[in-house]
Amino acid sequence: MIETITELDALRARVMGWKRQGLRVGFVPTMGNLHAGHYSLIMLVRQYADRVVSSVFVNPTQFGPNEDYTRYPRTPDADTTGLEGAGCDVLWLPTVESMYPFGIELAAKVHVPGVSSVLEGECRPGHFDGVCTVVSRLFNQVVPDVAGFGKKDYQQLAVIRQMVTDLAFPIQILGGSIVREADGLAMSSRNQYLSAQERPRAAEIRRTLQQMRQAMLAGTARAEVEAAARAHLTAAGFQVDYAVVRRPDLSEPGPADTGARVALIAARLGRTRLIDNLEF
Ligand code: PAF
Repeated sequence: MIETITELDALRARVMGWKRQGLRVGFVPTMGNLHAGHYSLIMLVRQYADRVVSSVFVNPTQFGPNEDYTRYPRTPDADTTGLEGAGCDVLWLPTVESMYPFGIELAAKVHVPGVSSVLEGECRPGHFDGVCTVVSRLFNQVVPDVAGFGKKDYQQLAVIRQMVTDLAFPIQILGGSIVREADGLAMSSRNQYLSAQERPRAAEIRRTLQQMRQAMLAGTARAEVEAAARAHLTAAGFQVDYAVVRRPDLSEPGPADTGARVALIAARLGRTRLIDNLEF
């Protein structure tokens, strides 16, 4: 049976008890409204840990003023059942007050320069400060040995890895593979904002990423690949924030670069902002 914990003292006691028994503790932070992508992360972390904690906390500090904080879907009962089915031992449910005891204005913030400032950082100013601020708190609350983050949020994973190295958190970070719907759309809590007309068109993002990879591997210039992807998505009715090819650290690859790269897209379909990526 999964145990739901809402008090920090109780969480610490549970985790300390496990550690005294020599057990390794895994952690998967989430904002709830869980789907197969989250559950696959629980199962991934389980392979590296004896016990798994997952948190559900819709973090106000990572939403911009015009973003969906208040309407972000909250489904606590389904989340609890799903986490239990995926093998999670403890569900950690902090409140906004316990996460930010001095209030949001006076909260100590964590800023990771460089990798935070491009792409999502340009489109959503302050977003990664909010993510790092809450994830560092969650790490201090749960004190895990290993933690899992989905690769759908590719840049978030890169930012977290840099934060963990820079702040010397003794935590192994795992990246979980993207889980997709049958038509290729990456699973996301925000997919449910898509209308019935928009939903089939959303899979165009994945097809565009595949075209970008194919064109890059065929030797097409990066600028041409990026421009074609943007034009294609715009013609398909998307408002494109970016459609780019980057190195894994999100720096721009040079013309002769044949090492590991990743194609990344962020685009809006109606009111829904979708992100996805493809490594090659
Ligand atoms: O990826 C998410 O769901 C969130 O950004 C995270 C890591 C749980 C922090 O609030």
